[in-house]
Amino acid sequence: MSQAQSSDNVLGKVLIVDDEEHIRKIMSIMLGKRGYSCRTAASGAEALSAVERESFDVVFTDLNMPEMDGLGLLAKLRDVASDTLVIMVTAFASVDTAIKAMKEGAYDYIAKPFNEEEIVIVLEKALERGRLVNENKRLKKEIGLRSDASVFLGQSPAMTRVFDIIAKVAETKATVLITGESGTGKELAARSIHQNGPRSDKPFVAVNCGAIPQNLMESEFFGYVKGAFTGADKAKVGLVAEADGGTLFLDEVSELPLEMQVKLLRVLQEEEVKRVGENVPRKVDLRVVAATNKDLSEEVAQGRFREDLYYRLNVVRLKMPPLRERREDIPVLASHFLALAVKKNQLAPKKLSPAAIRLMCAQTFGGNVRALKNVLEQAAIMSDGAVIGPEDLPFGVDADPFIVQHAEGGDDLVLRLPKDWTDLKMALKNVTQLTEREIIGRVLAEQSGNRTRSAEILGLSRRALITKIGLYSLDGPDPRSLPEATKA
Ligand SMILES: Nc1ncnc2c1ncn2[C@@H]1O[C@H](COP(=O)(O)OP(=O)(O)OP(=O)(O)O)[C@@H](O)[C@H]1O
Ligand SMILES: [Mg+2]
Repeated sequence: MSQAQSSDNVLGKVLIVDDEEHIRKIMSIMLGKRGYSCRTAASGAEALSAVERESFDVVFTDLNMPEMDGLGLLAKLRDVASDTLVIMVTAFASVDTAIKAMKEGAYDYIAKPFNEEEIVIVLEKALERGRLVNENKRLKKEIGLRSDASVFLGQSPAMTRVFDIIAKVAETKATVLITGESGTGKELAARSIHQNGPRSDKPFVAVNCGAIPQNLMESEFFGYVKGAFTGADKAKVGLVAEADGGTLFLDEVSELPLEMQVKLLRVLQEEEVKRVGENVPRKVDLRVVAATNKDLSEEVAQGRFREDLYYRLNVVRLKMPPLRERREDIPVLASHFLALAVKKNQLAPKKLSPAAIRLMCAQTFGGNVRALKNVLEQAAIMSDGAVIGPEDLPFGVDADPFIVQHAEGGDDLVLRLPKDWTDLKMALKNVTQLTEREIIGRVLAEQSGNRTRSAEILGLSRRALITKIGLYSLDGPDPRSLPEATKA
């Protein structure tokens, strides 16, 4: 596989199988001096054990060998190393057999006696083919994700910090533990770390640790050899080996059963993985990113998560901020998700009214960005006109501590005070769509102009409130007549 080739920084990894020593020597000297990495094996059995230890891009095998011949080896290789390309080396007399070998899956053949040029041409063609196959596989996997999932938005200071950390850490191989509530973009962050780093052209393998049945875990993670257990009628690579050279993303990592945690830790420490039914481990080169919405240190304290694995994962910590702590990101996210929903459902173009945006900005969004995305998709489908207004949004009056309603007989929204409203600073932090002036105006309106009560609610002294009322010219006969700027 070409994965091996680039992680070792050589042109390609080649295994030369021949029972004649001088052929092995000549070939490895020829190829070695041109920058290919060569190993040799004197028999089919030796070749198989080499393939168990490491992966090769190309195997050159002699056709006529005692015990296991080239065809026998080819059949075995197709089970244990299906990505490795096999080239038959054969005497003139057996060209027919070589052609038969190609029918059975050999990539090409060369006839003895061969010259250096011939070998290199065949080898280069094979390597190029391997690269294309791998690239193709990777692209197919990613196509579904690209369009939607790689857009990573945010302008808030909290998200700017997240992007900074991602940019720094992407360059390195450091393990990253991403924490954060459900729907905050943990998976998106993991993909972004991969995409912005030197491994971006290698696989990103996401594993949902909570979704694999316990009895399948080991074989899913580590793979197995053909015949390792009943039903294993074909070899399987395993997720860890699939991520070789790229990034292994352990999503919902807290869900790993303890015994699996031990095994995974060993793999991460040794950078070696052993398939089920195999005795010799193979090297893997992994960048690990893990994510959890649980407090892992608490899981450790409760004995549900191994401390050693926790320390192995928690090298760089990235906390995804909940949406309610970065409400200034809501407008841009909302427009993005609306456009996506319109496209996905082939609707006529729609936009959000300012009042709708303001209503969204006042929500807490327990399900974070994912919840916002769902709201927009629902509104896009359910709304009739080209403009989505507050009435198209599914927010009940009890849904949120910041309760916003239409003022009677008007378009303007009135902020009703939440039960746990503490002070003005908190309000400003959470409702970034409203200015201090708007908030004070609204509280005064709520309290029918009662300054003592309003000051209490806002967490200001009465004196400070009066100063601000003066500052913002909020002292009208009717505090409900809010200035133009607060209207939708
Ligand atoms: N900053 C963002 N910009 C654009 N889209 C985002 C952003 N954050 C999250 N999303 C989108 O929201 C959805 C949820 O994100 P993601 O799956 O990464 O969250 P998560 O933290 O892994 O959630 P969970 O804990 O439920 O697994 C995805 O569709 C993702 O594309
Ligand atoms: Mg996730």
